[in-house]
Amino acid sequence: MTSLSYRESQTNTPQDGYHLPDAIRWSNGKVVIIDQTRLPLDEEFLSSDNYRDVCEWIKSLSIRGAPSIGIAAAYAASLAAYECDSTGAIDTKLETALQVILATRPTAVNIRNIIERLRKLDVLGRSVGNVFLEEADKILKEEIESCRKIGKFGLELIPDRAVILTHCHTGGLATGGYGTALGMIRAAHEAGKDVMVLVDETRPLLQGARLTAWELQKLGIEFRLIVDGASGIAMRKFKADLAVVGADRIATNGDTANKIGTYNLSVLCKENGVPFYVAAPSSSFDSAATSGDDIPIEERNPDEVTHFRECRSAPDNISVYAPAFDVTPGENVAAFVTEEGIIRKPYRANIGTLLRD
Ligand code: MRU
Repeated sequence: MTSLSYRESQTNTPQDGYHLPDAIRWSNGKVVIIDQTRLPLDEEFLSSDNYRDVCEWIKSLSIRGAPSIGIAAAYAASLAAYECDSTGAIDTKLETALQVILATRPTAVNIRNIIERLRKLDVLGRSVGNVFLEEADKILKEEIESCRKIGKFGLELIPDRAVILTHCHTGGLATGGYGTALGMIRAAHEAGKDVMVLVDETRPLLQGARLTAWELQKLGIEFRLIVDGASGIAMRKFKADLAVVGADRIATNGDTANKIGTYNLSVLCKENGVPFYVAAPSSSFDSAATSGDDIPIEERNPDEVTHFRECRSAPDNISVYAPAFDVTPGENVAAFVTEEGIIRKPYRANIGTLLRD
């Protein structure tokens, strides 16, 4: 595994005049990512031709956000297939590697959905690595395209002057490019709407403070960073028009797993009559989960709560509960914004239609 400087790593010409680095790409037989754990202090890139490194990046959140880890899983599967020299079939060795990829992070369904998609490909008489790699490139393009469509569909939900609350990070880095919830905000800004974003810092790993604030600043979109506990007072003081978040897994009844603290925000929205939207591509829906009870919730290392980076911020030897995600009941969600359009209640029927088409 090697680290590259910003200049060495970039092939991306700025989109729409903005200078945002690629979240992930394939270059000369290697996967290249920007290390999201180092942002915003360092813009450093990692590259490797070993699928085990990509799995470590996913686990350590060097690459994170449901669509981005799905894309990373597809590239990891290609690397594994090349390493196993698989031809014409998914052999036992490759299957073992796919299980390692599937076990990296449990909550975002994107990894599972994408490995299932790869399994269905016709590999007869072909190098499995080549077939998986073609598909991985296709998935990356599709995810970015989906985000742009989400941005367009979301426009009708955003008033011309809007104060918008968001939680965690759902921008280009989390999605392969452009963003889901942040994509909606970005599309509104690009359409000339006057938006101001209230950004939850998102304890404990500060995806809001480190990544959303960094991305909004680069995009020139007005925002205020707030601690998670300030979302109530900020919602009232700035008269929030809406909240929009992303998703790691959406059950067929609309129950939505997303970054810890999302459920609290949805309850605040309900209490204050603020519409709470979820923006997510169809790759984040789980046709096998009938409610939030079917969604596995990842628990992280307690050190992430008791420390900030290497610095301890709580007493030693204490008990910690560190869920990475929570589940917002579908009833708290005013609508889902997907690349196929806006989905409203009743969710069981309307999400069913999305998943069947
Ligand atoms: O633990 P993370 O940082 O991977 O959690 C990410 C989130 O919860 C995002 O909101 C979600 O994946 C949607 S990304 C478009």
